Amino acid sequence: MATIKSILHETRVFPPDAAFVNQANLPGMETYRALCDEAEKDLEAFWGRLAREHITWHKPFSRVLDESNHPFFKWFDDGELNVSFNCLDLHLASQPDKVAIIFEADDGKITLSTYRDLHGRVCRLANGLKSLGIGKGDRVIIYMPMSIEAVAAMQACARIGATHSVVFGGFSAKSLHERIIDAGAVAVITADEQHRGGKINHLKTAVDDAIALGGTDSVKSVVVYKRGSGDVQWHVARDVWWHDLISGKSEVCEPEWIEAEHPLFTLYTSGSTGKPKGVQHSSAGYLLGAILSMKWVFDYKPTDVFWCTADVGWVTGHSYVTYGPLAVGATQVVFEGVPTYPDAGRFWKIIQDHKVTTFYTAPTAIRSLIKNGPDLPGKYDLSSLRLLGSVGEPINPEAWMWYYTVVGQSRCPVVDTWWQTETGSHMIAPVPGAVPLKPGSCTLPLPGILAAIVDEAGHDIENGKGGFLVIKRPFPSQARTLWGDPERFRNTYFPKELGGRYYLAGDSANRDLDGYFWIMGRIDDVLNVSGHRLGTMEIESALVASPLVAEAAVVGKPDEIRGEAIVAFVVLKGTRPQGETAHDTAIELRNWVSQEIGPIARPEEIRFGDNLPKTRSGKIMRRLLRTLANGEEITQDVSTLENPAILEQLKHPIA
Ligand code: WTA
Repeated sequence: MATIKSILHETRVFPPDAAFVNQANLPGMETYRALCDEAEKDLEAFWGRLAREHITWHKPFSRVLDESNHPFFKWFDDGELNVSFNCLDLHLASQPDKVAIIFEADDGKITLSTYRDLHGRVCRLANGLKSLGIGKGDRVIIYMPMSIEAVAAMQACARIGATHSVVFGGFSAKSLHERIIDAGAVAVITADEQHRGGKINHLKTAVDDAIALGGTDSVKSVVVYKRGSGDVQWHVARDVWWHDLISGKSEVCEPEWIEAEHPLFTLYTSGSTGKPKGVQHSSAGYLLGAILSMKWVFDYKPTDVFWCTADVGWVTGHSYVTYGPLAVGATQVVFEGVPTYPDAGRFWKIIQDHKVTTFYTAPTAIRSLIKNGPDLPGKYDLSSLRLLGSVGEPINPEAWMWYYTVVGQSRCPVVDTWWQTETGSHMIAPVPGAVPLKPGSCTLPLPGILAAIVDEAGHDIENGKGGFLVIKRPFPSQARTLWGDPERFRNTYFPKELGGRYYLAGDSANRDLDGYFWIMGRIDDVLNVSGHRLGTMEIESALVASPLVAEAAVVGKPDEIRGEAIVAFVVLKGTRPQGETAHDTAIELRNWVSQEIGPIARPEEIRFGDNLPKTRSGKIMRRLLRTLANGEEITQDVSTLENPAILEQLKHPIA
């Protein structure tokens, strides 16, 4: 991959400048090292101290870490708190009129919500949910556009102790159905419409379709926020308008005091099998990770205007839209639309208009904005910016340099943050007032995070070489289990092959001679398309669900903008299509996958063969398919291949 080749040759280093260090929350390498040393000396005392200092507890904890049921760790488990209290009530006394959310709609309309206003909205909805009989331990699916209401819905669940599971609004009815069933949800909170890039997506219709697929009897209520026309089908016994539900409800709702380990949310993510995993997070440990990373990595200051562009349907939107910024009392931008609508200057205009200081986005967005308007940032006043962040996939040094020099005007540190749905918050990322930056490297682990690189047997690999990225000791914000599937949790993340002790991230990485981490990509069958994780098996199952398809194999190929693009090799039930038929069938199947999973999973390319390249024992040779997808010559040994002639058929894209 181009990215990997270029990061392996990267030698530039950017130490923090003095002005930044002087105002930083963690100034200088000594401060960073002192925290790392404190953690290394006594991990429990370290996390215990931070949890007492940064979280407001209803009942203090007496135990920090319980490892007795490894790898199902418990943190602070006899403590009680409420996450929504920590995000809202805490700021009511000190800064009720500070703007919590600057919401900018797709069409540019702005709505401001202060901490007092947001608290009121959350309490009214929480009371509404309670009136529907929803309470502690219930699961609620949230399928919403980016909005103040989406944040309020998550916070309202947290307030009453219901476990939310947000499903990205771009997922199909079928994906939604699967998640509703797996979660055993009692309610779905949605909107009539989602507006993005001038287009309308009918969310409520997708909810109706999902429930109509059956097996969803657990769902008693569907709460519908009216974002658009309100023109939807109505199921009187089940559906309720958001505005009707909150009408007359009190703006006060006593938070439910819950145990530290109570599941705040589950979030589905792709793994190596076809079935998405419901990653389950705790309340206190998760919150601690979100707060500390706001302060350490984003160097949060009360005067900041924070903007994370991620959708709340992804973990980044959980930790750096709904929870982290509110927990520290920040003013943040929430944006409904897309970076290129009405034009590729939209992000820069938002930064200018709202005087954003801290901007956090994904490499895929950066690359697409470079392509669509490399000089556009210069046309806006971006002088408010003081820190830039990147997340979701490796950032290639070229994109990093553009971000740093053109967007940040060589003034703002770029924090490349490596973490995952499963880790809850940043793991390896520069502490910007301390750690010198290297373009393309997420630099050094945060204090308390014992990241390392090991070989197949779990043995340490010396710096300068690559291997599997692991985290050796537990940390508070890590996932507690997979919803309803603890064995899969153990097998996936604490595999016996590595001794069962370390958390296996699923990424390969290099560590250079300075100890800096360079992420190389996934080691499993997971693709990273525009920063979104997609399992190849999930896409294959969607393809074979089509009546046309007999067999399918999916691989990734490097893509300049999206990081990876999806290529599917397909065997049809009938004869192999050629010419125009092949072209039309490919379009039909691409749309099919989009319907089945969501537009993000639509294959970029489909190729047809009479068969797939297999070994004599019938195993599909994916490495060969990857070579073909990349348009490279096959140099691998094909002697074990049962049907070499197939390679010729699959060699070229459909004309
Ligand atoms: C990849 C997103 C390189 C990685 C927060 C990881 C990254 C997966 C980075 C998690 C980064 C995320 N550099 N790779 N800064 N951040 N990744 O669960 O492969 O959607 O395992 O969480 O994205 O994706 P997820």
